[in-house]
Amino acid sequence: MLITLWLRLGAFLGKTLLWMLGLGVLGWALTMAWLAWQHRGPVSAEELIPDGEAAMTRDIIQTAVRIVDQHRESTRYLRDAHAKAHGCVKAEVQVLPDLATTLRQGVFSEPGKTWQATMRLSNGNAYPQFDSIRDARGMAIKLFDVPGKQLLNDRQGRSEQDFVMFNHPNFFVSDVAEYRQNVAAQADGKKIMAFFPGWDPRTWQVRHLFIALATLSPAPASPTQTTYFSVSPYKFGEANVKFRVIPDPESCPTYTLPTQNQNLPNFLRSALNQQLSTDRVPACFVLQVQRQDPSQYMPIEDTSIEWREHDAPFETVAKIKLPAQDFDTPALNLQCDNLSFNPWFGLEAHRPIGGINRLRKAVYEAVSDYRHSRNAEQ
Ligand code: HEM
Repeated sequence: MLITLWLRLGAFLGKTLLWMLGLGVLGWALTMAWLAWQHRGPVSAEELIPDGEAAMTRDIIQTAVRIVDQHRESTRYLRDAHAKAHGCVKAEVQVLPDLATTLRQGVFSEPGKTWQATMRLSNGNAYPQFDSIRDARGMAIKLFDVPGKQLLNDRQGRSEQDFVMFNHPNFFVSDVAEYRQNVAAQADGKKIMAFFPGWDPRTWQVRHLFIALATLSPAPASPTQTTYFSVSPYKFGEANVKFRVIPDPESCPTYTLPTQNQNLPNFLRSALNQQLSTDRVPACFVLQVQRQDPSQYMPIEDTSIEWREHDAPFETVAKIKLPAQDFDTPALNLQCDNLSFNPWFGLEAHRPIGGINRLRKAVYEAVSDYRHSRNAEQ
C-alpha cells in the first residue's frame, strides 16, 4: 500500500516536472520568436527625435549632478561615470595606408596619416572601487590638432576628435525616456525598480536587466586586453557607423604580461604600468567601423540593440599604438583627471547620432563643467 502510494507520488512528480520543462521550453521559444519578429529590418537611416526629449534631458542632468555629489571624494569631485582611471596614456593613431576610398572620412581622410592622441582607460562605476569588482571598462581617445570646424560652437580652436567607448557592445537602456526612469531609480538606491518600474509586466525590462548584468563583467588581465565598443552610432561621412577598438598584439613585439596580484585595488593600473613603463613594451589595437545596413535590424534610436556582425562586418580604418612610456606620475594623473572626453568633441563628419548620444551632448558638458567648477573652488 505504502509502496503504491510512493510510486504514484513519484510518477506525479515526474510528470509535473516534465510539464514544467515543456512549458519552460515553449515560453523560451515564444519569447525568442517574438523578439525575432520585433527585431527585424528594415530600419530608418535617419534620426527620429521623440517629443519631450529636451525636458527629459533636463531632469537627467539634475540626477547626474546628484550622483556626482553623492560620490565626491573628500577632496575632489569626480566624473559621474567612469570615475576611476587606470591612467591616461600617449597614443599614436595611424590611418591605414591602403584604406578603401569609401572609408576615407573625417579624421580618416588621409591614408597613412598619424595622429597624436591621449587615451584614458577607466572603470565604469561612479565610485572608484577595487578593480576586481565586476564593472564595465572604458576607453576614451582624444586626437589632437585635428583641423576643421568642431561640432560644438564653444569648442572652436580646440581641434580635437574624441572616441568614447566601453567594453560591451550594447547599452542597458534603449532611449532617453527609459534612461530617465532607470537612472532616477538607481540614484535613489532602488536597483531592481530600475528595470521593473511598476506592476504592469509590459513595463518590465528583463532583456535590459540581462544586458546590465553582462556589462558588469570580471576585469580583464589588463586594460590593453579587452575590446571596446562605441555602443551608440555616429556619422561617418554620409554613412552611419558604430566604432570598435580591438587588441592587435600581432602589430607589436611579442609580450606576455606577468600575472598580476588581483587582490590589489588598482591592479589594472599596475598591469598597464608593468607593460608600458617597467617592461617598455608598446601595446597595439586596431580601430574599426561597422557600417549600418538599414535593410537589417541595425537601429539608430535603440542602443540596447547590438548591430550583428553577420548583418554588417567591422572594417579596420586605423591602427593604434601605445608606445613605451611613464604615465603614472602625480602630475600626469592630475592632468588626466582634469581632462574631459565627450562624443561631441569632434568634427561634423563623425557627428554622434541617436537619442542616447543627443542626451550625452547635454549631460557630459553639464557634469564636466560642474566637477571642474567645484574643483576650482577647493
Ligand atoms: C553609449 C553608451 C555610453 C558609453 C560607451 C559611455 C562611455 C563613457 C566613458 C568611457 C566615459 C569616461 C570618459 C573619460 O575617460 O573621461 C564616460 C563618462 C561619462 N559618461 Fe558615458 N557612456 C555612455 C552613455 C552615457 C549616458 C547615456 C550618460 C548619461 C546621460 C553618460 C554620462 C557620462 C558622464 C556624465 C561622464 C563623465 C563626463 C565628465 O565628467 O567628463 N554616459 N562615458
